Amino acid sequence: MSEPTNLPNLVTPVERPRRLRRHSNLRRMVRETGLTPADFIFPLFARYGSDEQRPIPSMPGQFQYTVDKLPAEVRRIASLDIPAVVLFGIPAVKDRYGSGNYDEDGVVPAAIRMIKDAAPDLMVISDMCFCEYTDHGHCGVVNFPDEPQRRAGLHDGYLLNDPTLELLARASVVHAQAGADIIAPSGMIDGMVGAIRAALDQTGHEHVAILSYSTKYASGFYGPFRDAAESPPQFGDRNEYQMDPCNFREAMKETRLDVEEGADILMVKPALPYLDVLSAVRRNFDLPVAAYQVSGEFAMLQAAGANGWIDLRRCALESLSGIKRAGADMIVTYFAKDAVGWLG
Ligand code: PBG
Repeated sequence: MSEPTNLPNLVTPVERPRRLRRHSNLRRMVRETGLTPADFIFPLFARYGSDEQRPIPSMPGQFQYTVDKLPAEVRRIASLDIPAVVLFGIPAVKDRYGSGNYDEDGVVPAAIRMIKDAAPDLMVISDMCFCEYTDHGHCGVVNFPDEPQRRAGLHDGYLLNDPTLELLARASVVHAQAGADIIAPSGMIDGMVGAIRAALDQTGHEHVAILSYSTKYASGFYGPFRDAAESPPQFGDRNEYQMDPCNFREAMKETRLDVEEGADILMVKPALPYLDVLSAVRRNFDLPVAAYQVSGEFAMLQAAGANGWIDLRRCALESLSGIKRAGADMIVTYFAKDAVGWLG
């Protein structure tokens, strides 16, 4: 075997970026994006009942906590210096209107009071949607033949926009009353931010912020969450309200409308398949932008990691860094607690 020592040097590089990658400390000096605990928001599932911490099979290491189990968990989260949680409820009873969402003694208001008592400085973001509370699993009031709100010309089961706004406004006030710091409408209902802002302002909650799921796509990556929140639609799908994954211009329009209606923080969801949208929202609007690394993104990484196909820690941190680099000011992630540990 001949050694390739006598090859002529055909090209001499003009620039040598590798100079700055030569040593780990040099790489640290030129690193453009860093993750800190303040970047993370941890999703919490509050369940009715007592004394139960129920594992979610499709989301390894994630649990539904009954309200009495929340104090220990939120103290742990706060001790990691994570600034906020986003709260989802699993009510004992579901009904047509999702009344569990605006019941003052419902699972989420009870959870908010419990969290604020146990960890007063932890910011509580209340996910504002009806799918966990309705027996049909849709995100609001739907067009049923016997429904007084029925709209002619719309098919049975169609999600009715304006009747849903009324209930969103009502539930938001109940959550704010219980102590929520931020209301996060996630249903992609037209006018939701404006309706909630008006209701909060009229009831003395003008200090409560709105984090709008401003561009939320109709995504297959929500699969594990629907197990976790016990919220799959019982008929149809969410394509009539969540966005078509193929659309970008529409994402800019949705974002602009939420800004005009008074959103304080914007969000793109899911994260990894939509980094182009995230980056554009960051560049075109001047509000803080959140990204939601959703249940399916988490489950994919976990599954590949468990099989030994990828290094979980490395790939999770790489995903989170990519989301931050694309423009996220904050990331909702099921990895929040692990990531803080990994960052050291
Ligand atoms: C709606 C809601 C969903 C998620 C967050 N809020 C589910 C849906 O739209 O079906 C998904 C989050 C995830 O997949 O991690 N309440």
